[in-house]
Amino acid sequence: SRAALRPCTCRHLVGRSYSSTESSPESKVAILGAAGGIGQPLALLMKLNPLISSLSLYDIANTPGVAADVSHINSRAQVAGYAGEEQLGEALDGSDIVIIPAGVPRKPGMTRDDLFKINAGIVKSLCTAIAKYCPNALVNMISNPVNSTVPIAAEVFKKAGTFDERKLFGVTTLDVVRAKTFYAGKVKVPVAEVNVPVVGGHAGITILPLFSQAAPKSSNLSDDDIKALTKRTQDGGTEVVEAKAGKGSATLSMAYAGAVFADACLKGLNGVPDIVECSFVQSSITDLPFFASKVRLGKNGVEEVFGLGPLSDYEQQGLESLKPELKASIEKGVEFANQN
Ligand code: NAI
Repeated sequence: SRAALRPCTCRHLVGRSYSSTESSPESKVAILGAAGGIGQPLALLMKLNPLISSLSLYDIANTPGVAADVSHINSRAQVAGYAGEEQLGEALDGSDIVIIPAGVPRKPGMTRDDLFKINAGIVKSLCTAIAKYCPNALVNMISNPVNSTVPIAAEVFKKAGTFDERKLFGVTTLDVVRAKTFYAGKVKVPVAEVNVPVVGGHAGITILPLFSQAAPKSSNLSDDDIKALTKRTQDGGTEVVEAKAGKGSATLSMAYAGAVFADACLKGLNGVPDIVECSFVQSSITDLPFFASKVRLGKNGVEEVFGLGPLSDYEQQGLESLKPELKASIEKGVEFANQN
């Protein structure tokens, strides 16, 4: 089930963007759920990341094929596939970052919380293994409901005595990706120049894009425009679920977002300064124990959790109305982790 690849030495084939690869430090990244809708394109994008020397692809089944396929790409990372629980330890061993897109996605009509029953158990068992085999890894949690799966992971790590709040992240990057795309489309600015912080959590109204802080600034957005942009960002996942009509949720845009966030984590680990991304982390910037906001990434994971900055009245209202739902989702995760 292992598809190993000799180190790539063909610089001329890999192209300029990878030309500095061999000088980067060794980094192992593991993807749990690597054969899934998100896992496969995420494996592809991670294979292209020159900061990764070892890419470990784990799923309960079908990873040998994905690993063999991805391993033929002539980029730096050596790829290995692992299938089944008995190979999970080897898949995780020595990982610097573990990305978790394992679990079931939504179907039309479902909320992210409807996934709790199945995904909570999956996340709990995977995190138990992480605590055992790579307790120092940064964990990038993609599995939904993120508002609950991150607290579950924290409880599992606390029980195992390995919890480090700087190393646990709920991946909310897709909300930022969507907010940037929708804002750029509305304001008609080049999307590559756009920045929009998204705070709160990762479900419905708990997703709070801060368009008042968007860059570049726009003076001709009406209140109704901002409301519409906010709603579209909050419902972006549902837009995809409905368009896919029963065939899953966002996978390609999520893989992109997951790759962006993992790359930021890797850069932080490698000491690149001023790496800032939004993420759902342990936090004291509100009265909730976990909250998404801008964080600075460094050699130990989260180096600094930034406050929310000035909010418009509309955003302030959004913040107050998201808190009860986010609090309940966090508590549900904590309770699950402690009772089963
Ligand atoms: P999928 O069903 O296509 O793939 C999930 C994969 O997880 C499958 O290959 C399955 O075999 C694997 N899996 C199940 N149990 C496992 C276990 N115990 N260990 C390892 N792997 C296991 O689902 P998809 O579309 O890839 O979505 C995955 C998760 O990501 C869902 O929970 C979804 O809600 C979430 N998601 C999160 C987003 C975010 O912004 N954070 C955005 C989109 C989806």
